[in-house]
Formats: sequence, structure tokens, C-alpha cells
Amino acid sequence: MRRIQLVQRRLCPHDSLRRVRPVQRRWLPHDSLWFGLAALLLTCAAVACDSGSSAPDGPLEDPARQDLHSYANSDEIRVTHVELDLEVRFDERRLRGSAMFSFDRLREDADVLVLDTRDLTIAAVESWSPNGGFDAATWSLAAADAVLGAALTVVLPPQATRARVTYETSPQASGLQWLTPEQTAGREHPFMFTQSQAIHARSWIPLQDSPAVRVTYGARIRTPEGLRAVMSAANDPDAPADGDYRFDMPQPIPSYLIALAAGDLAFRPLGERTGVYAEPSVVEAAADEFADTESMMAATEKLYGPYRWERYDLLVLPPSFPFGGMENPRLTFATPTILAGDRSLVSLVAHELAHSWSGNLVTNATWRDFWLNEGFTVYLERRIVEELYGADREAMEAVLGLRALDADLERLDDADEILHVDLAGRDPDAGMTQVPYEKGALFLRHLEQVAGRERFDAFLRGYFDHFAFRSITTADFLAYLSEHLLADEALAGAVAVDEWVRAPGLPPDARRPASEAFDGVETAAARWAAGELRAAGLETTAWTTHEWLHFLAVLPARLGRAQMAELDAAFALTESPNAEIAHQWLLLAIRNAYAPAEGRLERYLLGIGRRKLILPLYAALAATADGRERALAIYRRARPGYHPIATASIDPLLGWDG
Ligand code: BES
Ligand code: ZN
Repeated sequence: MRRIQLVQRRLCPHDSLRRVRPVQRRWLPHDSLWFGLAALLLTCAAVACDSGSSAPDGPLEDPARQDLHSYANSDEIRVTHVELDLEVRFDERRLRGSAMFSFDRLREDADVLVLDTRDLTIAAVESWSPNGGFDAATWSLAAADAVLGAALTVVLPPQATRARVTYETSPQASGLQWLTPEQTAGREHPFMFTQSQAIHARSWIPLQDSPAVRVTYGARIRTPEGLRAVMSAANDPDAPADGDYRFDMPQPIPSYLIALAAGDLAFRPLGERTGVYAEPSVVEAAADEFADTESMMAATEKLYGPYRWERYDLLVLPPSFPFGGMENPRLTFATPTILAGDRSLVSLVAHELAHSWSGNLVTNATWRDFWLNEGFTVYLERRIVEELYGADREAMEAVLGLRALDADLERLDDADEILHVDLAGRDPDAGMTQVPYEKGALFLRHLEQVAGRERFDAFLRGYFDHFAFRSITTADFLAYLSEHLLADEALAGAVAVDEWVRAPGLPPDARRPASEAFDGVETAAARWAAGELRAAGLETTAWTTHEWLHFLAVLPARLGRAQMAELDAAFALTESPNAEIAHQWLLLAIRNAYAPAEGRLERYLLGIGRRKLILPLYAALAATADGRERALAIYRRARPGYHPIATASIDPLLGWDG
């Protein structure tokens, strides 16, 4: 096997691959003339990067279509299928094996395949030709960029139709979490899972890690005997747990949706096409909580057309899962913190299910277009909730969402309040604010109101059909919008599209959702806070999780020790088993230095790793010097159980340096 030295390519990820790569290739035989030209072109690329964009002159030249977060040369060679063969090594906290790629050459003379990697150890790279079989390939791994990882360049002979990389992952891989038996519900078996969105797939598979590239995949996964592996692919719950599993994903998906988990998993069917995987001690509660999944699917199909992924199952992960949910196709990954016992937090299921249309079927082409995934999905989620649970519940959830958006609009810079956000030079996870979610959903709600529901539903359904299994940019959506819904001039005049997509904040005519039920809650909160009512006298028997969350959020930020104790005595909030309610209460407890909740706070932070729930608690603690000390003391113990994605956000907050 030969290894070659290549100049580190793409200093600025916005540079044009087409401009830089030919130079880089010819660099192989040392040549100072080419060096000079390369430097010149890289400088031009850096300038282009700074100046942002230029006029589009065709899809591939369109800067808005360029993925700033991938080194892949997918405009020259496009991977179409990935075949994985991986062993899950709990003892080493590594995946080890190979990935084989089939590809299309979009340019006949394309002779290198550039893949994204992060912290992978490459053992061998081969190309495969129909006549010659496998042959060692020339390859190089560039120096790693802190955000993007390292480009792996494979030189391909003209006759090669496949490439294979043999590799292993790092124990610190950003997209993997390895749990000891003590960190699981059953406490007997280890557990591991992947989290590929946004750009973590490259930390466990070398691939073209761009949402613009769709692949089908197959996998052979080996685990210790007795454990079960599941993937975002066709799963067979009846396969014997012999440690050798085979998966096929026949629908083309972007790399961020490739997912794997392995642990002691049981399965319960929920309906004809739906079911849930979880650890055996959790699976019954999960099946009860998610009983409405099949109806959610039917409701979504009625609105937006057929479900195109055959089955929809859920996987309940251990509590360290850093997100609420992740829409891995055919197998949503979900946090156990939504198992409230009363189905009150299942809008998360509606959300992840809705991604089967918005996101997985029609996908954001770059992470700048993330709002196309999340804004559409929040809109769909609310429609599903309205259909299943009624307009009152939908309204409450919309108001809770609006409050979260308002809080973000308070703290964010103008540039980050724009739907088509600029992420140049940043980790795409930085774009995960309420703006793409709630502002995006309000934009669609606005379109719905202007066009009327019937017309808007037909438009959305047509949109999903038109762009099915494609990755699109914001401009693609806007062009479709103006050719269809807004082809009607009266409608077009009523929507400030540009302002919605390119201006910060909310347009003045945005409809702010309101909830009558919450009006009553606000009155109750105000009367109690003013001392007109005792806590025990509050009419709360009919309150659901939503009313409680609103009540706790609208209370004055400063409460006296006696007031906190009164609420706690009346409603046992410190011991609330509902992770969302406990979260909201603990925020109040920290702000008001309510000592009786200290033990619970510690247990909470040690037991849950969902970033949305723990980060604000650490932030509230860090607001005072004393609190910061306590936060660090707890974090020191909790951190080993948190996912790398959660620690990446909390470390800087607490100034953690090990
Ligand atoms: N796809 C997201 C999760 C995500 C986004 C992971 C960006 C990594 C990068 C998922 O669909 C999501 O939005 N989850 C939310 C819950 C939802 C109900 C708003 C979450 O995890 O909080
Ligand atoms: Zn989502």
C-alpha cells in the first residue's frame, strides 16, 4: 500500500472544489509551478468564502448549494450505496470493520474520491474493478479541521467502480456513545448508539457526509452474543440474538440518517406497521406511552400522502441520549424522559414521525437550509397533535414553542435569527436554535392562514410528492412556492416571503399563537403570587403537563422561600416524576436558592443527559459564584455519563478544562 502526501486541501470549506482539486491532484509529482497556482487559487477561494455568494449560474455553480460542512467531491463522484461490515467492540469502545462504496462518476475524468472522516484510524484502502477485483489504492488523510474533521482522498483507477475502506473508530468518536451496564436500566449489559446528525456520521463511517448526497445502505453488524443490534433500516425483531445481524436500507437517505444501536433490547408491536424497542424493563411503559403512534401515522398520511418507509418503529434509549428524539428512518431514537406515564409528551413522537415527510423524504441540501427540515416538521407535528388531541392542546404547545422562540430571539445576534442562516466556519450544531423550528413553523402557519387550510394542505402534499427523495435548498423551496401557491398574485402580495426568510426576528404580521386554557393558568399564577389565593386552593385537578409547564414559567422569577415551600407542599414538585415539569421547577429552585430541592437537582443531573433539559440548569447554576462551584462538583461526577454532544455544549459554559 502506498501513502502519499497531499497539501491540506480546502482551507476554507466554501472554496470551490472544482477549482482546487485539479491542482491538488497534479501536485502528486512535486511541482513548484503548481504550488504557486494552488496557493493563488486557495487565496481566491478564501476571498470568495469571505464575500459570501455570487450569482448562481446553474445548480452546481450555485454557492447556496455548496455544502460548507463537507469535503466530499460529490459533484464529481457521487456515492450511491454504502455496504458496512462492522464489529461492535464494547471492550475497546470501538467499531471496527469496513465500508464499501459504489459510486457514479458525474465527470468522466474524475479520478479521486474524497470522503469525510473524523478521528478514524484507517487500516487499508482498496479500489475494486470488475476485472481486477480488489487492489490496494493510493490514499491520503489530510490534517484535521476542528469542525470538519479530515478529508480522506482515494485515488481511483479509471476502471474502478467501487472503493473499500477498512478502519476503526476512536473511543472518543463524537457520534458514538458507549454505556457501561450501570448506565442502563437493566444494569447488566452494555449499550451503544450512534447520533449522526449533523456531521457526526463521519466519526463512525468514512463517507460523503453531506445531506445533499443520498445513499442506500446494507450492513452486517456483529455484537457480543445476547445483545441486539438495530439500525435505521429494515429491522427484524424476530431475528435470534446471536450477535450477527444483517440490515438493508433500500430507500436512498442522507448520511446523517444512518444509525445503529446495540444493547439488551426487547420489542413490542404497537400496530400493524409500528412498534417499539427498549430495554426489557422499559418496553411495557414505552408501549403504553406510544399507543397512539399508529393513529398518528394514519393522520399524517391523510394529510400529506403515503408513508414511504414501510415500518415506523421507535427505539427508547438510555437517559444519556443527548436529544429528545432523532428521526432515524424506520426507527426513531427517543429519550426515555418523554415516558411521563400519561402520554402528555408524545408530541415528540408526532415530530419525529413527521420527519418521515419533512426531512427524510424532502431533505435540506445543506445545514443552512435546516429550517426546511425542522420548521416544516414542527408545523406538521402541530397538525398531527391537533388532529389527535384537539385544538386546545395544539394551542398550548404552540404557545410553549413561542415562548422558547421569544427567549432565543432575546439572546441571539440578528444574523442567527434568519431562517436561511449563515453557518460558514461554524459547527452546524450552532444553528440548532428555536429559529429554524418555531419561526419556520410560524412562517408555514402564516402561509396556511393566507391561503386557507385546504389550499395549503394540497400545496404541501404536492411539495412532498414533487421533491420526494431529494435534497433541496431554500431557493428550491421558494421557487416552488412562487410557482405554485403564490402563483396567485393576490396571495403573493399578502406574504412577505423575503422578510420571513432573510430578515431577523418575526415579521410584524406573524400570528402569535394564543391559548385560552393558558389564560386561566396565568390568572391563577398571578392571584397566587399576589397572595390572593393559597396554593392548595388553586384549581389544578384538570391540569395536564402543559398547564404545569406554563404555570411554572409565568410565575415571578423571584419567589420567597415560604412561597416555594408552599407550592412544593401542595404539589410535590421537587419529586415530580415528569422530567419536563421537574426541569421547570428546578430552574425556579436554583434561581430562588430553594435548598430542599438540592438533592433532587443532583439526582436529576446525574440521571439525565438530554441536553435541552440539563444545559439550562447548569447555566442557571453558573449565574452565581456559589452555584458555579456546585455545578462543577456535580458535573465532575455526571460528565462521564454524558454524550460527547452534551459535553461539547456544557464544557465551555462551565469553563471545564478537565
Ligand atoms: N433532528 C432533530 C434532532 C437534531 C437536530 C439532532 C440537529 C442533531 C442536530 C430532531 O428531530 C429534533 O428536532 N428533536 C427535538 C425534539 C422535537 C420535539 C423538537 C429535540 O431533540 O429536542
Ligand atoms: Zn426535528
